[in-house]
Amino acid sequence: MIKFGLIGFGGIARSHKAAHTRLENEGFGSKLVAICDIRPEIFGQDMEINLGAANVGNMNGINLYTSVDEMLAKEDLDAVDICLPSYMHADMAIKCLEKGLHVMSEKPMALSTADCDRMMAAAKKADRKLMIGLCLRFEPMYLVLKDMIDSKKFGEVHNVYFERLGGMPTGWERWYHDPEKSGGIEFDLHIHDLDMTRFLFGEPKWVSSVKNGYKNINTRFGYDGFSVMTVDDWSGSNTFKFKMGYRVAFDDATVVMDNGVVTVFPNVGEAYTVEYGKQDRMAEELRYLCRQITDGIENTVNSLESTKADITLTEKVRESYLNNGKVIEL
Ligand SMILES: NC(=O)c1ccc[n+]([C@@H]2O[C@H](COP(=O)([O-])OP(=O)(O)OC[C@H]3O[C@@H](n4cnc5c(N)ncnc54)[C@H](O)[C@@H]3O)[C@@H](O)[C@H]2O)c1
Repeated sequence: MIKFGLIGFGGIARSHKAAHTRLENEGFGSKLVAICDIRPEIFGQDMEINLGAANVGNMNGINLYTSVDEMLAKEDLDAVDICLPSYMHADMAIKCLEKGLHVMSEKPMALSTADCDRMMAAAKKADRKLMIGLCLRFEPMYLVLKDMIDSKKFGEVHNVYFERLGGMPTGWERWYHDPEKSGGIEFDLHIHDLDMTRFLFGEPKWVSSVKNGYKNINTRFGYDGFSVMTVDDWSGSNTFKFKMGYRVAFDDATVVMDNGVVTVFPNVGEAYTVEYGKQDRMAEELRYLCRQITDGIENTVNSLESTKADITLTEKVRESYLNNGKVIEL
């Protein structure tokens, strides 16, 4: 049994808790035994975040702490699941690795390549597993697109558009609004589409990015014969519901995903909807970490080298928008 402690119980942690419960109910071999947050009042509070409802769920049988040190001292944990604000990821991951624990940490891996290096060195020295929660790599609505690209089912790719739109999250003490703490939209919302771009197409040849204020960023990633445009936007109104999507033009079809519905518009014949098996992406990323721990499998889905490369590429995105969208050759 892999016993987890969850660190940080704000907005996204509630999805992680639900994912732990799903695996436990399946009898998979992992269990969430403790949760830590410095704000005890939120242990019983449902939240509404920019992604929708973030409910507490059943807390029976889970030990609650307001100090990480106390939780680590009192619980016999095998692993932690870090859902802290982004600027805390590196130091907390290193602390837990040094205590001999395996670590799942939310994206972004860290706010600098140098911090990613520190995390990787700590994981190696401790001989523990460290994995970053880039949940879209476990999301069928994107995996179905990966299959189409890899199999060349509709021929070559000619143009790609990704979008991720919603209201701006606030977070504990408004940390999302402080670029020193969140890294800005480029290290937060945008990193999902940047990572998906690399997952689907490998390393881009160039990047050009424009940031409008601090709530909107448009980045173009260049490949041989096509480019990927990402539009990531936190300026949605209070009543606008978060949405994500893509549009990919192939030789023989245009494929559109709009909030989970994948539609193929072929050159010949009627448009049709693609059925894909739904799965809980948060549960699947946790399952994958557990399999690395128990079965010794290698992380070939989102290796640490890859999650670090996301951060290095984000630094290039920043260099580009600070220079009015200058094309940065990579
Ligand atoms: N994968 C995704 O789709 C996704 C979505 C949203 C957020 N995230 C990431 O998840 C992370 C958390 O984001 P969030 O929106 O849940 O933030 P949040 O502010 O809602 O939650 C963070 C929690 O950490 C707690 N905390 C702060 N310092 C602590 C400490 N020393 N010990 C214990 N608890 C402490 C706060 O009280 C707060 O409840 C961020 O890195 C964010 O980028 C990922």
